[in-house]
Parts: sequence; structure tokens; C-alpha cells
Amino acid sequence: MKKDLLSVQDLGPQEIFELINLAEDIKVNPDKYQDALKGKSIGLIFQKPSTRTRVSFEIGMFQMGGHSIYLGSSEIGMGGRESVKDVACVLSRYLNGIVARTYKHEVVEELAKYSSIPIINGLSDVAHPCQALGDMFTIEEKFGTLERITISYIGDGNNVLNSLMCLASKLGINMKVATPKNYSPDKDIVKLAKSFAAKSGSKLDISNDPKWAAKDSDVLYTDVWVSMGQEKEAAKRIREFKSFQLNDKLVKLAKKTHAVMHCLPAHRGQEISDSVMDSRHSIVYAQAENRMHIQKAILLKLLK
Ligand code: CP
Ligand code: NVA
Repeated sequence: MKKDLLSVQDLGPQEIFELINLAEDIKVNPDKYQDALKGKSIGLIFQKPSTRTRVSFEIGMFQMGGHSIYLGSSEIGMGGRESVKDVACVLSRYLNGIVARTYKHEVVEELAKYSSIPIINGLSDVAHPCQALGDMFTIEEKFGTLERITISYIGDGNNVLNSLMCLASKLGINMKVATPKNYSPDKDIVKLAKSFAAKSGSKLDISNDPKWAAKDSDVLYTDVWVSMGQEKEAAKRIREFKSFQLNDKLVKLAKKTHAVMHCLPAHRGQEISDSVMDSRHSIVYAQAENRMHIQKAILLKLLK
């Protein structure tokens, strides 16, 4: 049976810890894995732009002896030139896996339904599982543990937050979330994440108060106020998110040992000030690097 990674819900806590441990080993001993995916190929079907996800998957495959093919939206025209089903069935005959970045989450689900090879969600409007997995690896690396950590997410209730909430709750990590009133995370996903938290014994609290969220926190996390596909709402969003910027005043409320995280790309001067982005607390570039190590681990698990 093939296994997909459409959202972090596809993974149990044990599998998540295994992926993080494997990523750690890959990061320290990359040569050990240089032929691990020899002869394997993946396709990258991207309907939206990308720097980190595309480059880290392509280079990750290359470093493990495999091959990747980038299939941008103008090329493949999934759902227009050809149906999602036909793309899935045809590419399954050539490739060993697909990374898909889509607008609608239903499209990655449809790809998974019809393909006979693993589908990895490289970001949809609902989830960004590779990001959240890389982030937990980065937090463990930074603090030496995932126990008794509180992550505060301040900003938009979006795809990245959905994956972070579900993953943190599965792993027993506390989360405080603050979004503006009309930008709360999806109620069903919050409910699901809270059910994971009840099982693992962690806390997930949602509010509209960035100061409450930042207070005494270990990790301050933010993401863009305008996600890909929401460009028409930009002016309104920038107005309504103003008091949710990670700036010097807000980060002062966190623990002295706090780390600042952002999945990137960042809009400096909007959701994060230059001073915070460039401060000694910021681990955003390590976070970006770790995407590659965790994705190599994901590829090894799903493609082998
Ligand atoms: N964080 C992230 O997924 O970055 P890209 O959009 O550049 O891939
Ligand atoms: N929330 C952002 C994340 C980018 C990596 C978006 O969907 O555009």
C-alpha cells in the first residue's frame, strides 16, 4: 500500500518522532544517504510559486542519488489541459512520487486518490505538512527537547497554522494562537487539533490578543498576512493585521531565551519588523535549511 502525506493527520506521533530522528541523522551524516534513492524520480507539480519547497525537494533528491522534474502550472495545466485524474494516472507510470503545491486542498486529495505512487502535499490552501514537520525538527534542535515548549503563533489563521496546531497538539507541545477577529483558524481544524491535545496532554488556546500570546513564550511564530491566492484582499488585510506585527515591543513579552520563527517568504515591515527578523533570537534561516533534511526523511520513508 502506498502512503501519502497530505496533512500531518496522516502521521502518528511515533512516525513523526521517527521522521525527526531520521532528519537529524541525515543532517549530520549526509554521505550515508547519497545513494539511498538511486534510480528514483519525483515530479513537482506546482500551481503556485516557491523558493524553499522546490529547491529543497530538488536538491534533496539530487543529494540522495535520485532525480526530480519540475512541472509548473503553465506546463501541465492540471484540471484544464487535462483532468487531475489523468495527470495522476499517467505520472504514476513514470515516477516514484509526486510533490504537489495547489490552491485547493481537494486537488492534492484527488491526486492521491487516483495515483498509485505517494503524493506529498507541498502546500495547499488548507495545510503545509512539510513546513510544520521541519519546524518541529528545528525547535527540537534549538531547545534540545520538545517537552514543556510553548509555541505562540501570532498572525493569520492560515494553512501553516493549521499544520502547526495539529502537529504540536499530537506531540504534546502547548500552543497559544492570536489572530485578528475575522481571521481565526478553521473551527473544524481547531476541534481536531484540540482532540489531539486532549490525547497528548498539551494545551491549545486561541484568542485575538497578541500580547497574551507572546507572554512567557518559548517560540514566537508568524507567517504572511496575505497568502498566495489572497492578493486581492491585501490592502484590507494589511490594515486589519496592523497590531499583530512581531516587533521589538511584542517580543519583549516572551521568555528571554525565546526563538523567532517564520516559514518564509517574509514581508519585512508587515508581519515582522526588520529588527526581529534579524535579531539574535531569529532562527528563520536554520528553519529554512531544515526543510531539506526533514523532506529527505519523508522521501526515504515514502519512496523506499
Ligand atoms: N516556506 C515555504 O514553503 O516557502 P516557499 O513558498 O518558498 O516554498
Ligand atoms: N501562508 C503562506 C505560506 C507560504 C509558504 C501561503 O500560503 O502563501
